[in-house]
Amino acid sequence: MDVELKQKLIDLAQAARKWAYVPYSKYAVGAALLTASGKIYDGVNIENAAYPDTICAERVAIFKAVSEGERQFKAIAVVTVNGGFPCGSCRQVMAEFGLDTEVVIADEHGQVLHETTVAGLLPGAFTPDKLPR
Ligand code: THU
Repeated sequence: MDVELKQKLIDLAQAARKWAYVPYSKYAVGAALLTASGKIYDGVNIENAAYPDTICAERVAIFKAVSEGERQFKAIAVVTVNGGFPCGSCRQVMAEFGLDTEVVIADEHGQVLHETTVAGLLPGAFTPDKLPR
């Protein structure tokens, strides 16, 4: 991915963190998802008093995009205070839409701590092609 575009995703993910609803963990996560059509969708984690009903930033970004007709993704940037990695559920949801999507993980200073792909995050992913049609 183009260096400037990567930086833009990181900046948007970082900017989105201010909207994270995190009264319980205080761990604000921001994500910015670049679609094949060139649009960018951001997302934040949204917690709930019923803790398991919390949803992660990555899935919010992906669901926003899919709900607007997007299904092919080029890259996702995830920004946290300390460069935390996407959880297993988010990796599985990413895998649904392609294993080649680039994943960029950065901290609150915009420092890139890891660059990989969905395939790199979820080896042996269970993908839609495994299901008989
Ligand atoms: N969280 C995310 O938003 N994305 C992840 O991939 C990992 C965890 C959120 C969920 C919860 O609001 C907080 O981080 C602490 O787990």
